[in-house]
Amino acid sequence: MRRPLIAGNWKMFKTNPDTSVFLAEFLPKLSDVPSGRDVLLCPPFLSIARAVGLAAGTPLCVGAQNVYPKENGAFTGEVSPLMLVDAGVKYCLVGHSERRAYFGEVDTFLNEKVRALLEVGITPIVCVGETLEQREAGQAESVVAEQVRAGLTGVAITSVVVAYEPVWAIGTGKTASAADAQQMHASIRTVLAALGEAELVRILYGGSVKADNIAELMAMPDIDGALVGGASLDPSSFYAICNYVEKG
Ligand code: PGA
Repeated sequence: MRRPLIAGNWKMFKTNPDTSVFLAEFLPKLSDVPSGRDVLLCPPFLSIARAVGLAAGTPLCVGAQNVYPKENGAFTGEVSPLMLVDAGVKYCLVGHSERRAYFGEVDTFLNEKVRALLEVGITPIVCVGETLEQREAGQAESVVAEQVRAGLTGVAITSVVVAYEPVWAIGTGKTASAADAQQMHASIRTVLAALGEAELVRILYGGSVKADNIAELMAMPDIDGALVGGASLDPSSFYAICNYVEKG
């Protein structure tokens, strides 16, 4: 019912030449990935046009990692939703924990981004997740529930993707166990059920996803895909993740 989505987040890695090198190796392999799966790459802004150009005519989608929620104006250094449309962007990350932690982005502002993206037809991937301190204090589910509710206020939830990324698992090599991730995904779906048709919303897991843990995660009923950081930088490791073997 929900198409799996495997998304790569390149963060602040890769120039245009690096993007070309990556895609020259990755795109030919993409035809081996089962066609019922969506594959997405989110390069830095300046490599988006290159990626869109090279991905034309292939099933690869290209996304952005950030947006500023205004149509245009005196916002030096920012990029608008329409500029992303113009560049060929289909998805955009919102509220990645690095944006929350290093750039002070809060839920009300993130909700503005979600709405601004939906107005131009870009699918927001709304990232949520608890810190280690919050988990240890037993607050993981309540923190994440609040992020989901605040981020999606007034939004048609079937038009968004949610990504659960426990902060302590990002870039650390520590993955949540498939069972713990499933528990949080089920809890997110319960929160979503109060807002709309939760069964239709894809919920991705992110945090040290690798070729050797993707199949176990994807076997969970409420895990509908992955948001992959470090392991998306190498074409063969990202391909191996996209081409995971479904557990019978
Ligand atoms: P990671 O990053 O796969 O390197 O842990 C995930 C993310 O930050 O989206």
